[in-house]
Amino acid sequence: MSAREIKIAPSILSADFTRLGEEVRAIDEAGCDWIHVDPMDGHFVPNLSFGPIVVEAIRPLTAKPIDVHLMLNPAAPYLEAFAKAGADIISVHAEADIHLHSSLQTIRALGKKAGAVLNPSTPVSALEHVINDIDVLLIMSVNPGFGGQKFIPEALDKLRQAKTLIGTRDIDLEIDGGVSAANAADVAKAGANVLVAGSAVYKGNDPATYGPRIQAIRSAARSAQT
Ligand code: DX5
Ligand code: ZN
Repeated sequence: MSAREIKIAPSILSADFTRLGEEVRAIDEAGCDWIHVDPMDGHFVPNLSFGPIVVEAIRPLTAKPIDVHLMLNPAAPYLEAFAKAGADIISVHAEADIHLHSSLQTIRALGKKAGAVLNPSTPVSALEHVINDIDVLLIMSVNPGFGGQKFIPEALDKLRQAKTLIGTRDIDLEIDGGVSAANAADVAKAGANVLVAGSAVYKGNDPATYGPRIQAIRSAARSAQT
């Protein structure tokens, strides 16, 4: 089986929010594949970010898929709002949803791709019984809540386990947290094909750097794909 296409998903959490529109256009023009968006509720994670209104605001600025990583507990009451705001992929944390199967069904019924996310301490086996209900499997390689944290190396082992669980299914394997050109080869070798990168793309907020940074992450990942 040929390897899945590498996709780079910059996280707008590290964008300059005083110029959010320009920052979204800039990563689009710089060649990103998905736009990663991180709503946080200050309850599931120790930080607050934003809600559907930001997805709605950036939706007209790009034709690329908007990848919404919900760090909300509960997430279920907000799925429809994020779908209506223009999300293409909506991912919910296994730890935040006691009815994960139901939320995944709801996301697909809304016409969106359904993702399931695992915190660093949650085993891959938590998704064994919903593996046919997901389009994206997202492994956290930091404890969610903040950009710019250090990659947790144990995530590589989880990626390999997740890849085995996925088998031949049409599921993207995404990694989020501390990803950069320096470890892109490692995560791709372990099976990840969607690489979220917040600070590794946006640090310094100079649009001239975004293209070369995205390219560096992509080529490192591609070179390692088996
Ligand atoms: C963390 C978020 C990430 C974050 C990644 O809670 O889910 O998407 O923006 O940022 P970096 O790439 O800087 O670790
Ligand atoms: Zn994220």
